[in-house]
Amino acid sequence: MLKLPGLIDPHVHVREPGGTHKEDWDTATQAALAGGVTMILAMPNTKPPIFDAKTLDIALNAARDKARCDYAQYIGAGPDNSDIAASLALKAAGLKMYLDSTFGELRLDDMTLWMPHFEKYPKQYPIVVHAESRSMAAAILFAAIYDRPVHIAHISLKEEVLLIKAAKEKGIKVTCEVCPHHLFLHNEDLTGFQNLSGLTFGRKEVRPKLATQKDVDALWENLDIIDCFATDHAPHTLEEKDSDNPPPGFPGLETLLPLLLTAVNDKRLTIDDIIQKSIINPRKIFNLPEQPETWIEVDEDAEYEIKTSEQFTRCGWTPFEGWKVKGKVRKVVLRGKTAFEDGKILVEAGYGRNARI
Ligand code: DOR
Ligand code: ZN
Repeated sequence: MLKLPGLIDPHVHVREPGGTHKEDWDTATQAALAGGVTMILAMPNTKPPIFDAKTLDIALNAARDKARCDYAQYIGAGPDNSDIAASLALKAAGLKMYLDSTFGELRLDDMTLWMPHFEKYPKQYPIVVHAESRSMAAAILFAAIYDRPVHIAHISLKEEVLLIKAAKEKGIKVTCEVCPHHLFLHNEDLTGFQNLSGLTFGRKEVRPKLATQKDVDALWENLDIIDCFATDHAPHTLEEKDSDNPPPGFPGLETLLPLLLTAVNDKRLTIDDIIQKSIINPRKIFNLPEQPETWIEVDEDAEYEIKTSEQFTRCGWTPFEGWKVKGKVRKVVLRGKTAFEDGKILVEAGYGRNARI
């Protein structure tokens, strides 16, 4: 049995408020614990979006009542909330800026709308950007101009990882994360995306889109440039994914660690990479507290198949259905209490704590 610190996932869509048929604070944090994740940072593209004191309270009240693992909640950057967002920085995981279009209403097209956020958001708290390709280059320029840290969410392209490498070499304060689906899947993969009639287009939708094999290879070759693993756990129901207007996103909390451990077994990663990118770096970048008496136990030799029926997420599917993995989370201890053991959640709703208080 291998003992590791509890993982931190800096990128999770909890869906509460407004999308609780997909997930809520209870099911998302159960999925987290089952995946060996003891702290999640929740994204603000809910309904309503989290962008001021009132909406932040709505999310934090639900989290206080329902979360089973520890958490913090991001504030979303809107066209006219830069003062209020900056004033809430102490209570928030960070500021999330959507610079490209994706699920939800939060999006900042015009670069003049980015400026007040970069000017005002306190430098010791992170700005996280959804910025793909050339928008990402613009976000890195902003980090340089405003001389403040910027964290790039879910990188997926060779050009992105190479530009981040160059920016880091110049001393620009940029960090980044990669999601398992951009490491383990590419745009021609079909397994895990079929529905009963064999159609695949809706389940495959995710932002950033799955990239080419060349891009996937570049991410693996430049893993030392990548600071964090993050799931971008983005649950949508199967009915929604198979509809005519499929929303983008994959669930990922329960498959993150088994996939990473399988990569360790295949000698593509080391356990130390997991510790650096899922615990040490996220704690440092997001300025998060240590979780005392918190650890997970994994059976590195346990081989099994990923099955939707064993998941805690409410969305009812996984793009990794049927994948054979090696490495199973047996036990999770969170702040002195056994929170998960042998497939069962053992802490109550409300046990989770806000990392920002
Ligand atoms: O695929 C995605 N789904 N990418 C995002 O950026 C948002 C997310 C969601 O909220 O569904
Ligand atoms: Zn996301």
